[in-house]
Amino acid sequence: MAQDQAVQHSVGGTRLTGVGGALPKRAFSNDELAAEFNLDTSDDWIRSRTGICQRHIVSGDETAVSLAHAAAQRALDYSGRTADEVDAVIVATSTPDQVFPSVAVRVQAALGMKRGFGFDVSAACSGFVYALTVADSMIRSGQAGRILVVGVEVFSRLLDWEDRSTCVLFGDGAGAVLLEGGAKAGEGILSTHLHADGRLGDLLYVDGAVGCASGKVALKMHGREVFRHAVVNLAAAVDEALEANGLQGTDIQWMVPHQANLRIIDGMAKKLSLPSDRVVVTVDRHANTSAASIPLALDEAVRDGRIKKGELVLMEALGGGLTWGSALIRM
Ligand code: UT7
Repeated sequence: MAQDQAVQHSVGGTRLTGVGGALPKRAFSNDELAAEFNLDTSDDWIRSRTGICQRHIVSGDETAVSLAHAAAQRALDYSGRTADEVDAVIVATSTPDQVFPSVAVRVQAALGMKRGFGFDVSAACSGFVYALTVADSMIRSGQAGRILVVGVEVFSRLLDWEDRSTCVLFGDGAGAVLLEGGAKAGEGILSTHLHADGRLGDLLYVDGAVGCASGKVALKMHGREVFRHAVVNLAAAVDEALEANGLQGTDIQWMVPHQANLRIIDGMAKKLSLPSDRVVVTVDRHANTSAASIPLALDEAVRDGRIKKGELVLMEALGGGLTWGSALIRM
């Protein structure tokens, strides 16, 4: 078969066989960030309102592609697979280095892949759950046998460093998973659910596309309103995932949530009656890395041995759009 010919794969459920993460070298504590950008804020305000203590920010030659490539390579290494065995790369990002080509095809090239396909998914902080859903569907339909799903963000490019209400909240980073077909019933990705409400688009946005009206790229957020929607919509998304699988909150063994605010994360854990040591938290060290936050947190908890094979993991996210959703995975 010619290398660029479409490959039909056996249909089956989707297993998660590799995890990887990558963070920029430079980390800024809250005090260091305030000093660097001359911000009228305090470590106490940021910690008590969000749980954030530090974040990583790109410097030198670090880019969305370099971070995504590093995370993807680590996911491959973890799984024991090589780039030749991967059929597609799907990258969730709102901060590509270029308008096109996509980050995905740059990563495809950087990994040394000579066949397959790649594209980016844009769903802000829900991007990873969206990309995971697309990849799961493609594997189940036989379009691809193995897909690297990456979440990467360089949000430091989008921030208005004079707006203390947003610039302290975000960080840069990448996380990746390798998905493969062949899962038996009850294994791997059990369900995903996606939602969006475009009427709420102005609550969290970046007015900065090519040819945009303002000519200025900067993230804007009505934080209190987004917080309110996050609490309501994420609770509904969790109920939806449980109901679809005939489960109770107490059946969930791990929560790997989007890392926007520790207060939102704690609220969801309480709803599931999950003790805090069953919730993977990285917001303290990474801040909000948008589409990268879930795979970065998953990578950390799988590698340090907290999340084990066979355990039931719930992921949930909400972000600009508004978009939100969940994924339930038997590891
Ligand atoms: O990942 C995508 C989804 N995003 C989210 O889920 C984020 C949801 N929202 C939030 O997490 C919270 O709303 C924030 C952390 C963004 C803000 O927390 P808050 O408790 O809602 O604060 P606030 O926006 O109501 O601001 C309270 C006060 C204001 O002062 P006044 O008006 O009460 O005098 C702000 O001006 O805090 C002030 N403030 C700050 N003070 C010190 C805002 N930012 C800062 C700051 N340092 N960095």
